[in-house]
Amino acid sequence: MVSLTSAPPFWLRDNCPCPDCRDPRNGQKLFQITELPAALAVDAVHDTRTPDGAPAREVVWAPDGHRSVYPETWLGAHLPGTGTAPGDGRTEDDKEPWAASRFDGGLPEADWDAYTTDPAVRADTLEAVLRLGFALLRNVPVRDRQVLAVARTFGHVRETNYGELFEVRVEADPNNLAFTGARITPHTDNPYRDPVPTLQLLHCLANAARGGDSGLVDGFHAAARLRAEAPEAYEILSRVPVPFAFSDERTELHAHRPLIGVDPAGRIREIRFNNRSIGTLRQPADLLETFYAAYRRFADLLLRTELRLDFRLAPGDCLIFDNTRLLHARTAFAESGDRHLQGAYADIDGLASTLAVLRREVSAR
Ligand code: OGA
Ligand code: ZN
Ligand code: ZN
Repeated sequence: MVSLTSAPPFWLRDNCPCPDCRDPRNGQKLFQITELPAALAVDAVHDTRTPDGAPAREVVWAPDGHRSVYPETWLGAHLPGTGTAPGDGRTEDDKEPWAASRFDGGLPEADWDAYTTDPAVRADTLEAVLRLGFALLRNVPVRDRQVLAVARTFGHVRETNYGELFEVRVEADPNNLAFTGARITPHTDNPYRDPVPTLQLLHCLANAARGGDSGLVDGFHAAARLRAEAPEAYEILSRVPVPFAFSDERTELHAHRPLIGVDPAGRIREIRFNNRSIGTLRQPADLLETFYAAYRRFADLLLRTELRLDFRLAPGDCLIFDNTRLLHARTAFAESGDRHLQGAYADIDGLASTLAVLRREVSAR
């Protein structure tokens, strides 16, 4: 039997499941924290049962006489001091970090037909995006705008200044080096946006050019290596906001964020890295000196071949990846060759929601 003495009264009362405190139709709270009596205290505790017969404790509150029934299982899982609080699913704690050799046995991939018809395949694929940072769909129809249909299997398309989708092919007057045949080193997209698009899709329609191979790097793993090898460099990169910028005739975007974003507990949570769009840092000279040393060191690390997973997209492949964690790259290609990808952005919290609902359905069967 759990003891309620460790439970702060306002915390416990805030979690009262009764129908006066939470709307039974949706579980949403019906009161403001300011509406609870300032002198709130537990008056008495009794053993009881929930309406469906599970062991529970009933708390009678002073001074208002309100009664709350807490299932023992809920208390056992949530009382302060019972296990560690779960992470938010987005930090290094909830990920499987990787170097390229992790995929010697194959990539996390699924066939489009199986993905669309089998909820278990769909769940495994979405789970790979959350855990490993990416998944590859094969045999996706090679159709204009199909990338939007792929995004809509798990969420909403995030439209940007590039449109609801963007064309990655050689353009006559490119507003981005991605739309040339140039080599593109490992980077995250749209770091000049805040919030940044958290998911990216790249659907290959043609890849007949010489070159144009793809690369992925786990930025969380790389940042953790930097932390181990050069703690002072890691510290600088997690602390100094970097002005990212993009502008063309119709757009002017700026975001100021560190290259390595950490959560309040110091866990790695977001990588922004894009040499093309780093603007001019304005900091004291000595800080700029150490920042640039750290930036070079991290950039060097991101170019290590053992960290970069190399592969080649074929027509019908659609890569889905976490743009807050993975860096993507491509080798240069002959501009005379036929290479065409369509890209789109979406939200990783939406993907996680779709997966959670899928898991409910899979486990209910
Ligand atoms: C991009 C990009 C990769 C590729 O468009 O942002 O990185 O393979 N493209 O062309
Ligand atoms: Zn209540
Ligand atoms: Zn890119």
